Amino acid sequence: MAYLLGIDIGTSGTKTVLFDETGKTITSALEEYPLYQPHIGWAEQDPEDWWKASCDGIRKVLTKSGIDPADISGIGLSGQMHGMVLLDAENKVLRRSIIWCDQRTTAECAQITSLVGEKRLIEITANPALVGFTASKIMWVKNNEPAVFEKIKKILLPKDYVRFRLTGEFATEVSDASGMQLLDVPGRCWSGEVLSKLGIERDWLADVYESQVVSAKVNNEAASLTGLKPGTPVVGGGGDQAAGAVGNGIVKPGVVSSTIGTSGVVFAYLDKISIDPKGRVQTFCHAVPDTWHVMGVTQAAGFSLKWFRDNLCKEEMSVADLMDVDPYVLMDQEAEKVEAGSNGLIYLPYLIGERTPHLDADAKGVFFGLSTVHKKRDMIRSVMEGVVYSLKDCLGIISGMGVDVSEVRASGGGGKSKLWKQMQADIFGLPITTTNSSEGPALGVALLAGVGTGVYKSVAEACDTAIKAKNIQQPDEGNIGIYSKYYELYVKLYNSLKNDYKELSKILGSI
Ligand code: XUL
Repeated sequence: MAYLLGIDIGTSGTKTVLFDETGKTITSALEEYPLYQPHIGWAEQDPEDWWKASCDGIRKVLTKSGIDPADISGIGLSGQMHGMVLLDAENKVLRRSIIWCDQRTTAECAQITSLVGEKRLIEITANPALVGFTASKIMWVKNNEPAVFEKIKKILLPKDYVRFRLTGEFATEVSDASGMQLLDVPGRCWSGEVLSKLGIERDWLADVYESQVVSAKVNNEAASLTGLKPGTPVVGGGGDQAAGAVGNGIVKPGVVSSTIGTSGVVFAYLDKISIDPKGRVQTFCHAVPDTWHVMGVTQAAGFSLKWFRDNLCKEEMSVADLMDVDPYVLMDQEAEKVEAGSNGLIYLPYLIGERTPHLDADAKGVFFGLSTVHKKRDMIRSVMEGVVYSLKDCLGIISGMGVDVSEVRASGGGGKSKLWKQMQADIFGLPITTTNSSEGPALGVALLAGVGTGVYKSVAEACDTAIKAKNIQQPDEGNIGIYSKYYELYVKLYNSLKNDYKELSKILGSI
């Protein structure tokens, strides 16, 4: 039996999962680390934390499973996209990584648009300049930390920094590289034009591979730190969204995924490149050769519920600890006691700005309609509903681009919680399915590792072997009507508030 290892370097932690060749989970480990937010809208992490979490996770998984490391055919790496890791001439990290949800680079986005040209930027990178993407973070360092910028010798994405520590090689792959805004997305290679216009050296970037190709092998130093066998192949892998899509079988037309992780993403496969001219949804290379994908992103999806839990659900957390259950299970039970629509309370999930459908770094979270009738349980439910309204925005734009949406597969927190799944069915007005595995990105990159090392012939064969759709949840006709009224108002609220968000940012910036 061949084994495959998937490592997903997420925002709240790194998940390491060992699978057998049928896609069955053998063991897994989750190692958490901090997120630094030194100013409102800033978000940074320490790349050393990702490496330590990967080493600890691999060691734990190998020990718990008791398998011979020589039986691991290949390793796949997945990770939070868009983060910027800068290395100097000695390959030392120059500063903490500015990660995907950081919102500081509005001025740099305007700079990139004027240097490359709005139309040309979309033609090459398939997206308008976005605050979350790596290019604007590099320009921010150039403009604000010139002493750091001068020392740059390598620029890596989070999972590719872990690959470097694991193998000593600088490599990336097309799906994650698409989110740097330096890739020629239709051509699947670095864009010389964008790099030269932004003053970024080609040598600073890793070589780009297709996602299933073996990019490097585990070196002796990493083998002694992790327990892996030296020489174990490491394939390209994928950005967490493309990897999660492979892990959910989103490798053909018609099936779309809706994933609630820290961010929330509606993701569709494309066999021909298609770009939203307004830039509200992102087009990137998929982790399947010669295909692309389009996705809409809610910045704070699971992050909204986690923020609510950490700040306002201390009692639920203590009770959950005593009962040895997940606090989200108790929060779900509370929310279930409230009718659809949360008694008129509407939550806007813009805690860390927003990407789809409003490219707005200044947007902020809102509870609208709060009154004395509301209890904590209404607030929990309205947070969950607000996240799904935002995902409906994404789904609407994607189907408006002519993408066939006949099935939505829910994953992440939104696939685990029965209530959140039902809300998706009711708010989207579509049946929701889940699959036999909830490992998403870790499974996706393990399958890619299986393709790259000959365990499977193709990504489609790997998905057919490992992934089965199950548990169809149908929409409730009564709730569809209630939610469509609230959704209409939800859509209006952003427009009513958008100038006020700008004013608030000015006040915050002036204090
Ligand atoms: C995708 C995105 C997030 C991060 C963190 O574009 O920004 O999904 O990858 O999960």
